[in-house]
Amino acid sequence: MTRAPSSTTARETDERVADRSAYEAVIQRLSKASVDKHWEPYKDIPWEDPEFLVDQTDPRWELPGVDKLGAHPWYRGRSPETRARIGLWRLATAMKIGLQFENLLKRGLLNYAYRLPNGSPEFRYVYHETIEEGHHGMMFQEFVNRTELPVRGMPGPLSLLAQVAPWIPLISTELFFVFVLGGEDPIDHVQRKLLKDDRVHHPLEETIMRIHIAEEARHISFARHYLRNRVPRMPRYRRLMLGVASPIILGIMARIMLAPPGPMIRRFAIPREVVTEVYLRNPAAKREIRDSVGKTRELCTEIGLVNALTRPIWQVMGIWA
Ligand SMILES: [Fe+2]
Ligand SMILES: [Fe+2]
Repeated sequence: MTRAPSSTTARETDERVADRSAYEAVIQRLSKASVDKHWEPYKDIPWEDPEFLVDQTDPRWELPGVDKLGAHPWYRGRSPETRARIGLWRLATAMKIGLQFENLLKRGLLNYAYRLPNGSPEFRYVYHETIEEGHHGMMFQEFVNRTELPVRGMPGPLSLLAQVAPWIPLISTELFFVFVLGGEDPIDHVQRKLLKDDRVHHPLEETIMRIHIAEEARHISFARHYLRNRVPRMPRYRRLMLGVASPIILGIMARIMLAPPGPMIRRFAIPREVVTEVYLRNPAAKREIRDSVGKTRELCTEIGLVNALTRPIWQVMGIWA
């Protein structure tokens, strides 16, 4: 039985030790899960199975009625082939942006791991995560290649700006893991929603989503536990800086992940008023952005990053509940 602490200081030390060992137990559990349950794209996905081949005009690529563009009369007025191509373009772009984000993420994780001391429990987990993200990158790119659509990822200037992301861990590992959640949470939100709608999905899409959701659950869990463990111990001024930077990063990331692809708009000559109506002046689109960072917003509130000073930034970025 644990002896009752004799003083407040002793109790605080005991709590810190208990917190630390609970945190380390989580990391060990996640590392073990990565060994026990993982997928490899060229072993676990039957790319050449006739059922898994990609045909641009397959009606299963069509955007569903619950989609903001999918429900629009302009979209419904296109031919079935064009509707399928637009849906596939949208999906392939999401995968391309996803793999670009994960490329930045991997480089950042390696920059973080480079400096970890011997015996650090984070080291092994971060390597597991980097390897899994390597598999995701191959899986997403293989899908994009098989669509044979000329999709591009992030717009050029944004892609250039994003090159700073891998260096964030050198300034603040906490800010880096907020960036991680900023990309992973919206992707996860969209993929889970997609699998829950009761449409018949293409088996390749379904397999990729299921693999990704399963492995991302661990990555998201690690980032959240890391922040829960670290942020409350940060010096007050650093925590304030993190509190200011977090909603800015999260607001930008959610938009990058959910924005309509420019090349798709041009290729299918989607009228400007349709784009405005569907993506810009649409309360549902705004709600989608807010909802996609919902879990991270709750976490930031829980760990003390939201206060009277930082809440207005969340509101300005359009991601406050
Ligand atoms: Fe991933
Ligand atoms: Fe991930």
